Amino acid sequence: MTSDTLVLLSSRELEKMRNAGRLAAELLNHLEPMVKPGVSTLELNDEAERWTLAHGAKSAPLGYKGFPKSICTSVNEVVCHGIPNSKQILKEGDIINIDVTPIVEGFHGDTSKTFFVGTPAPKTKKLVEVTEECLRRGIAEVKPGARIGDIGAAIQEYAEAEGFSVVQNFAGHGIHRIFHTVPEILHYGKRGTGKRLRQGMVFTIEPMINEGTWEVEILDDGWTAVTQDGKLTAQFEHTVAVTASGVEILTLP
Ligand code: MF3
Ligand code: CO
Ligand code: CO
Repeated sequence: MTSDTLVLLSSRELEKMRNAGRLAAELLNHLEPMVKPGVSTLELNDEAERWTLAHGAKSAPLGYKGFPKSICTSVNEVVCHGIPNSKQILKEGDIINIDVTPIVEGFHGDTSKTFFVGTPAPKTKKLVEVTEECLRRGIAEVKPGARIGDIGAAIQEYAEAEGFSVVQNFAGHGIHRIFHTVPEILHYGKRGTGKRLRQGMVFTIEPMINEGTWEVEILDDGWTAVTQDGKLTAQFEHTVAVTASGVEILTLP
């Protein structure tokens, strides 16, 4: 199967996606208490890898297209794909997105959250809360017959009304036995455009919302995406399934 084939999952396959999604959510919950000033992003990575293996799963990011670690840790102005590093120590007032994708019995569960390190500044808190609400509003659009553009429109309308911008260089993606596949889920766009959602489709919604410009740059490591203006950025991600009547979030504990 090539990665551009649209797959509608059977109920048996959905059950496996639920198992992977649950483990992904539980991994984030497991890591959350470690998010404190003084911890390095490599320590978070190493605990994630240990916990994932201990639960009989594998870390999808490790070795994926050459990615060197098991999770992505994206701090402050890092939009996504931050690489865990022993020299990167979290400090009071930082924000960090932790993005995990365990593989359970061949199926991927992909979820991320942005956490506060200590107590955030008010504008930091607002960015993170608006980003989580963007994900909630995007998910709320999902039902059979809705259009993919409805998801992006809901996210963009809310983010921009709150004075923030939507990253356009990265998108949500179909996910099942394959980590990144069709459909592509843009986090901006127009209502009533794009393909229709159908029962059995499974994909991620993972808006990246910036304080300043939406534009990003990739660092020389080939992975780390940062905001072009160095301002803050936040992200939340769930893996969801289109059900007969609406949507099921698969990445819940
Ligand atoms: N989990 C990320 C996503 O949401 C992808 C990470 S790819 C990696 O799609 F190679 F950086 F791990
Ligand atoms: Co994803
Ligand atoms: Co992810």
